[in-house]
Amino acid sequence: MDHRLRAHHEPHIFAIGDCAEVRCPDPGCAVCRNAQGPSGLVGPGWRQAEWLGGYLTLLASGAAADAGLLPALPPEQPGVVVLKARGLNMAVAGDNSADPWDEDALTAGAATGRPRLQIAQWADPEHGRYVKMTTRGGVLEGLVAVGMPRTAAELVGLFERGAELPADRSLLLRLDGPDQLPGAGSPDPAGTLCRCAGISGAAVSDAVAGGCSTVADVSKATRAGTGCGGCHEDIKGLIEQHFSPAFP
Ligand SMILES: Cc1cc2nc3c(=O)[nH]c(=O)nc-3n(C[C@H](O)[C@H](O)[C@H](O)COP(=O)(O)OP(=O)(O)OC[C@H]3O[C@@H](n4cnc5c(N)ncnc54)[C@H](O)[C@@H]3O)c2cc1C
Ligand code: FES
Ligand SMILES: [Zn+2]
Repeated sequence: MDHRLRAHHEPHIFAIGDCAEVRCPDPGCAVCRNAQGPSGLVGPGWRQAEWLGGYLTLLASGAAADAGLLPALPPEQPGVVVLKARGLNMAVAGDNSADPWDEDALTAGAATGRPRLQIAQWADPEHGRYVKMTTRGGVLEGLVAVGMPRTAAELVGLFERGAELPADRSLLLRLDGPDQLPGAGSPDPAGTLCRCAGISGAAVSDAVAGGCSTVADVSKATRAGTGCGGCHEDIKGLIEQHFSPAFP
């Protein structure tokens, strides 16, 4: 595909996802010379789909008569890997190499005025749970979260936005606490409910209030639940909460 996801020999055919290898015919293109091919992860496919939707809409509207003026696909940001399988949920991003007690690593660059690294780490191997947050000036430079899906989703969002973490890092661990689990209370409505599609609990609640009474209905209306399926229980929880009678 070229840099607009068009097949080399048939520019009316586009590709996204695992089969979309961007490698343009220009032998001088440094980006393509060093390209490593599709990552085999869901994220790039979603981002390509979003970009291609906008691109095709723009083409159809005739807003940019000269195709050369249309935007090129932005390069993939390095390094957020989210793995989900039965019984396994893991997110890794950025640089996690520094050790919490390695003063040399924590203070490297201090002479140039950079804030020191801070590392918050929590491990519960008995229950397959582990979180490491590496921050500089409160902003994540690296994260690892295993067995903590809601914490992982929140950390990935904070990492991608370059947003500052709460001073008390343990607040993030509470997202996977027992009071936040489906059926045991209401999760933070503004928080991400479907981590594959990036859909908030509030958006799902709105769809349910609008009449969606099954997971399939909610997926059709919001895209939540269309990836790994790991959020189906949470969606069911919101549907049951809405449709259960106020008084038993
Ligand atoms: C076991 C497993 C675990 C994974 N875990 C993760 C993970 O934790 N995190 C992550 O980010 N990624 C994971 N991945 C990778 C992720 O699933 C893929 O990167 C992603 O699904 C690719 O999306 P896609 O749309 O390119 O292809 P697909 O999702 O494979 O979609 C291709 C579609 O085309 C259809 N199709 C095929 N041939 C034809 C045909 N001839 N005519 C019509 N339709 C056809 C298929 O039925 C399918 O629905 C995992 C993959 C596997 C196999
Ligand atoms: S979290 Fe994967 S489909 Fe919602
Ligand atoms: Zn190229």
